[in-house]
Amino acid sequence: TEVLYSNIILVGATGDLAKKYLWQGMFNLFLEKSSNDHIFHFYGSGRTPQETAGPALQKILEENVKCDNIDRDDCSVRRRQFIESTEYHQLKSADHYVSLTIKIEKALNALKVNETGTLAFLSVPPFTYADIVNNLHEECRPPDSWFRVVLEKPFGHDTESAEKLSRDIATSLKEDEIYRIDHYLGKPGVQQIMPFRFDNKDKYDQIWNKDHIERVEIVMKETLDCKGRMNYYDEYGVIRDVIQNHLTEILILIAMETPSNLTDRAEHHRKKLHLLKHVKSLGSDSCVIGQYTNYNTQVKDELKKDDDFQSVTPTFATVAMEINNPRWKGVPFILMSGKMMDEKSGYVRVVFKQNILCGSVPANEFNSCYPRQIVFVTGNSDTKHPILLVSKSLPEPNVRDNLKASNLESSADVFGLKKSDYFSYNLVESQDAYSNLITAAYEGRRDSFVGTEDLIASWKIWTPLLQSIKKKKPRLYPGGKSNSDWLNVVTLGNKIEYLYGVNVIDFPPDSV
Ligand code: BG6
Repeated sequence: TEVLYSNIILVGATGDLAKKYLWQGMFNLFLEKSSNDHIFHFYGSGRTPQETAGPALQKILEENVKCDNIDRDDCSVRRRQFIESTEYHQLKSADHYVSLTIKIEKALNALKVNETGTLAFLSVPPFTYADIVNNLHEECRPPDSWFRVVLEKPFGHDTESAEKLSRDIATSLKEDEIYRIDHYLGKPGVQQIMPFRFDNKDKYDQIWNKDHIERVEIVMKETLDCKGRMNYYDEYGVIRDVIQNHLTEILILIAMETPSNLTDRAEHHRKKLHLLKHVKSLGSDSCVIGQYTNYNTQVKDELKKDDDFQSVTPTFATVAMEINNPRWKGVPFILMSGKMMDEKSGYVRVVFKQNILCGSVPANEFNSCYPRQIVFVTGNSDTKHPILLVSKSLPEPNVRDNLKASNLESSADVFGLKKSDYFSYNLVESQDAYSNLITAAYEGRRDSFVGTEDLIASWKIWTPLLQSIKKKKPRLYPGGKSNSDWLNVVTLGNKIEYLYGVNVIDFPPDSV
């Protein structure tokens, strides 16, 4: 058999993201794909010279690449092989890119193999993208095989800057070589949405619309503050940091028309774009912005600002969106995220109207039937907690083999229902978002990434709102548990009255 040989280049090899997620993701790719017939070589790169960054990278690999949660007897042997297949290569000037290519060619010649493809992952600030992709394109593009470049956010701060960044990259890369990562698209809870809709088309498609759905809540609450990254955060704020990207991508998966199959990437992309053209964020009166009280002090400290400096960057926002198409007209999509909130949780809650038949479930004292809702848990990806909840007054869904029915004994309420009132599912096995996406990029699955047209379409939705709230002072909130009431019940213009921020993560451990 022909031996395959893949090169992976990680630029930003000793950065925080690399330490925390990317090297583990690279190892998972190696575990899944490498064999005697498929050799992998990893280059960790950065601007720092070999003498200091080389040992630093070794240390990171030793400390951060783990076999925990990996159920394989050969894991530690493979881990050693992975570390031995990884080396540091400085990439600062054009010469360094030339020497990288020489190194790669030598390795290929020594084994008399051809290259399968090269995947580069850029985990560096976006202002460096144009230069790095240009050098990679000029010097390191493999002559006879595929070349893909994964890019981290932020991809601009408004429509215009996103367009410029995209143009700069497009001088070196073709559209199908660009993989803009949105790590929420790799979250197991988010990855359930489209298969759920597709597998349950016959049961759900006819009620997945304005006649049956009252509202959709897309929520991402965080308990951390912004310390240590004020340089970035104060320029961006919560809408640019997570709502324009993570929460908008989730909205798309919930609201787009279901593709006729799940492997036709072009159709998926067309339907995504088609939806984006009909999404509008409502005016600033349908958006609540907040800032945790300590934020301004933290910014001043960290960025060494004068005493009278006042940041108006929001750390919290709830925005009501509308989709102007026959399926969704009039259904509010409520997107909410904040730092320093009462809990860390993430979910999408599709709330059905009550005034239609409720199946065989008996009535409770308040309604002619139980609340009907579907919850995708996006903020949690372990196997211990439910990742999908469907009210029993809705049809029992078909689910894939990667889910198993949860055994819910306790009767604690979840979004106004007893746990026993749900069909509830846990993941059988879980990988983190970055691992999922590194593998997806390697396999060329572009539907898990953000294309240039979708990126611009999304910024076109958000830019007008960002401009209109530019000078608005966010309401202050204390942060932590004490502000849960304020945050959980917000009034949005005259459109939305209540948003329930009920925790779905703090389930007492389920009896197994
Ligand atoms: C990042 C944001 O994209 O997502 C951070 O820049 C945020 O501000 C993070 O904390 C949250 O990701 P996760 O996976 O912890 O929910």
